[in-house]
Amino acid sequence: MAVLEICLALLGIGLLIYKWSTSTFKTFEERGLPFEKPYPFVGNMAGSALQKASFQKQLSEFYDRTRQHKIVGLFNLRTPMIQLNDPDMIKKVCVKDFDYFPNHQLFITTKERLINDMLSVMRDQRWKHMRNTLTPVFTAAKMRNMFTLMNDSFAECLQHLDTASGAASGKSFEVDMKVLCNKLSNDVIATTAFGLKVNSFDNPNNEFYEIGQSLVFSRGFQFLKFMFASLVPKIFTMFKLTIFEANKVDYFVRLVVEAIKYREQHNIHRPDMIQLLMESKKESQDNWSDDEIVAQCFIFFFAAFENNSNLVCTTAYELLHNPDIQERLYEEVKETHEALKGESLNYDAVQKMEYMDMIISESLRKWTLAAATDRHCSKDYTLTDEDGNKVFDFKVGDRINIPISGLHMDDKYFPDPKKFDPERFSEERKGDLVPYTYLPFGVGPRNCIGNRYALMQVKGMLYNLLLKYKIEASPRTEKDLWGSARGFNFTPRSGFWMQFVPRK
Ligand code: HEM
Repeated sequence: MAVLEICLALLGIGLLIYKWSTSTFKTFEERGLPFEKPYPFVGNMAGSALQKASFQKQLSEFYDRTRQHKIVGLFNLRTPMIQLNDPDMIKKVCVKDFDYFPNHQLFITTKERLINDMLSVMRDQRWKHMRNTLTPVFTAAKMRNMFTLMNDSFAECLQHLDTASGAASGKSFEVDMKVLCNKLSNDVIATTAFGLKVNSFDNPNNEFYEIGQSLVFSRGFQFLKFMFASLVPKIFTMFKLTIFEANKVDYFVRLVVEAIKYREQHNIHRPDMIQLLMESKKESQDNWSDDEIVAQCFIFFFAAFENNSNLVCTTAYELLHNPDIQERLYEEVKETHEALKGESLNYDAVQKMEYMDMIISESLRKWTLAAATDRHCSKDYTLTDEDGNKVFDFKVGDRINIPISGLHMDDKYFPDPKKFDPERFSEERKGDLVPYTYLPFGVGPRNCIGNRYALMQVKGMLYNLLLKYKIEASPRTEKDLWGSARGFNFTPRSGFWMQFVPRK
């Protein structure tokens, strides 16, 4: 009897969970939108949720299958999202009628410290005020000063390659580019965002690196916690679970708050984020709290760390497969180096490297870092087409998906999309790009605020590497990056191996 009762209870619980996991699946039928059959728990995201494909692959294949519709329903796990496949619709929602869609959706509703204070998570007027406070921080003039700090980290990275690998002897050696770039990204973030000098090459177990790594939530245990929090937010909050460990967050808060105090007391100036935030805080009418200021430095872990590191890796991966492109880039790097007459690289010299810019642009297209971005509808809105005909009625609370990686791989906009072709971004051809189809840094007032910072770090790193090394394939170089990557980033599971051949 008891066994039967237990079985019935388990069956009942199973049925309830199944019902819950599919309870949203009628949404698009009811609202008259085309959609693909979703599966319990995973919706239309089976491949990426079960770690069988990267988000980019999953989402661009979904876009490819549905691109005949201007607008289509997507089940992101069990969350219904309305995907805009049409560039004009994207322009309307993200730019022209931005006031109806001013926020990102909240993937998680945790109340823990710092998360809700990050610019990317802030909403409405609070977001607007913080965006205004931060905009002066990321101007070209500010980046120009910050570049000197990055140069020190580049030099330490090269020094490490020279000594650790015995490259000074002229022999080629194999490098896991991801490990190298993660360390560099860490040191650059420490110095530019937190005012801290660390050398992760000489001192790989430094506290900043270890604590910082435990916060990156695109992988490992952090990733699982994030998925859990977004799938069952109520249970997550009910059990008082947190994405980040409080003592690790406290470490960063202390770091920034103490640095601010020390600098104020001793009148110290250093061209980094702490300095810029101190200045912006003074000029702003908003009385930002310590946490609100620290949270903006904290963003670097989520926005800059993996993205910058991955962009160097995917670009280097393309260079080793396209030796002609690498050689032409090397020529530009060499010319820049000669023009600098022994001076270190600077922001203006980076800006002048046109071919470098074409290559990075193409890398951002083909190996899109942000597979998609999203918006949240805050006022009812009727979307119309160019002739004024109604396309769809959005309701408050609707979540919108912008399929960045899908657009980037659409042969209508980028013929032969799997081909790495920097010429798409040449002076002569970049005018042919269809507006709102190339969106590596998002679109409209809510676009990426850190794009200048990212581009200067990545270009600076590649300049320094290419000046000294030719990059070639090694026996362990991944053959099928597109197919083998998992999660939010294009990182092969076996490592990002490549061969560095010292230039004479
Ligand atoms: C290659 C590197 C990067 C890529 C590809 C990238 C991409 C993006 C994308 C696609 C968005 C969403 C934009 C939208 O919804 O329209 C975004 C937002 C954002 N990014 Fe980046 N990002 C990068 C680096 C950085 C860096 C270095 C920072 C430094 C602080 C940063 C800070 C932010 C912030 C704060 C937002 C939210 C902006 C807001 O809500 O107002 N990103 N980024």
